[in-house]
Amino acid sequence: EKDVYILGIETSCDETAASVVKNGQTIVSNVVASQIKSQQRFGGVVPEIASRHHVEQITFVIEEALHEAKLSPSDLDAVAVTEGPGLVGALLIGINAAKAFAFANKLPIIGVHHIAGHIYANQLMQPMEFPLLALIVSGGHTELVLMNDHGSFELIGETRDDAAGEAYDKVARVLGLPYPGGPQIDRLAQESDEAVEFPRAWLEPDSYDFSFSGLKSAVINYKHNVEQRGGTVNDQAIAAGFQQSVVDVLTEKTVRAAEEFKVKQVIAAGGVAANKGLRNSLEKTFKEKNIPFYVPPIALCTDNAAMIAAAGTMMYLEGERGTLSMNGRPGMPL
Ligand code: KG4
Ligand code: ZN
Repeated sequence: EKDVYILGIETSCDETAASVVKNGQTIVSNVVASQIKSQQRFGGVVPEIASRHHVEQITFVIEEALHEAKLSPSDLDAVAVTEGPGLVGALLIGINAAKAFAFANKLPIIGVHHIAGHIYANQLMQPMEFPLLALIVSGGHTELVLMNDHGSFELIGETRDDAAGEAYDKVARVLGLPYPGGPQIDRLAQESDEAVEFPRAWLEPDSYDFSFSGLKSAVINYKHNVEQRGGTVNDQAIAAGFQQSVVDVLTEKTVRAAEEFKVKQVIAAGGVAANKGLRNSLEKTFKEKNIPFYVPPIALCTDNAAMIAAAGTMMYLEGERGTLSMNGRPGMPL
């Protein structure tokens, strides 16, 4: 059978990315232009600045992805682009680039859900087996998704307030650490041999939902109380305690869902899946339970276009096609 080559494009937040993936499984090229340096000056992602960076980078990034792949547009079967959710101005840059590219080269265009992309990053590592449970933890999402087949996503739990990555970034800011805070807190937590005890938000006993805003407030209050008493704040111990609380809840709920739904495979995805503490905890726990658990390498956990191409390939093979009237969908449902 003929190989399928899909160009993926991702611009939903602050990474301008393009990638070519073969048969939904093999990365042929993977280019990511990060805006982190620029967004750091503002302590987070400023939507207008993100859009401007995407405009400057997108053409170059797409050309680079084709160049690295040693392919020309006529070798491609389709263009897959993140349709949502995300920052609307940022999404539109990628979508318009994808439309222009698809129109000029007479290729079909496929709109991909960003979270489906994060999940399909795993397909670049090993074949997915169903039923499958996916823990998605990123700057905008904290979700447990049950999949009984390709393209079928059943939301069984989600955050009721902050996303896990958002909590990381906010706590990091309180500790005076640069954006994005996740990797910084991860590093401090790793270095610490003490941990401040913070609460865990279990919610109702049978709930697979999450809540992280109470934990964030607990960290802020703890720091202020220590400072008011004239004490010295141990940032490492705060980071370690915060991370332990997040990791405990994510691990416990993921394991409980995996057992209840008797899944064949558990995967983690999204930027926070790059977290060492979380990876170790999930790997250890699922090993004990004898349930296959996978998490992609760190570069495929954070935003990239290979994951969009991988999810797009699955949709392409199922016959899904978008149109040139595609629009950015900031609140797109999975
Ligand atoms: O998936 P992603 O790149 O973008 C979104 O779709 O949101 O995730 C970004 C989030 C940020 O909140 C960042 O702080 C967090 O992932 N993150 C981490 C780590 N690396 C990135 N959080 C905890 N530990 C890490 N090592
Ligand atoms: Zn993401």
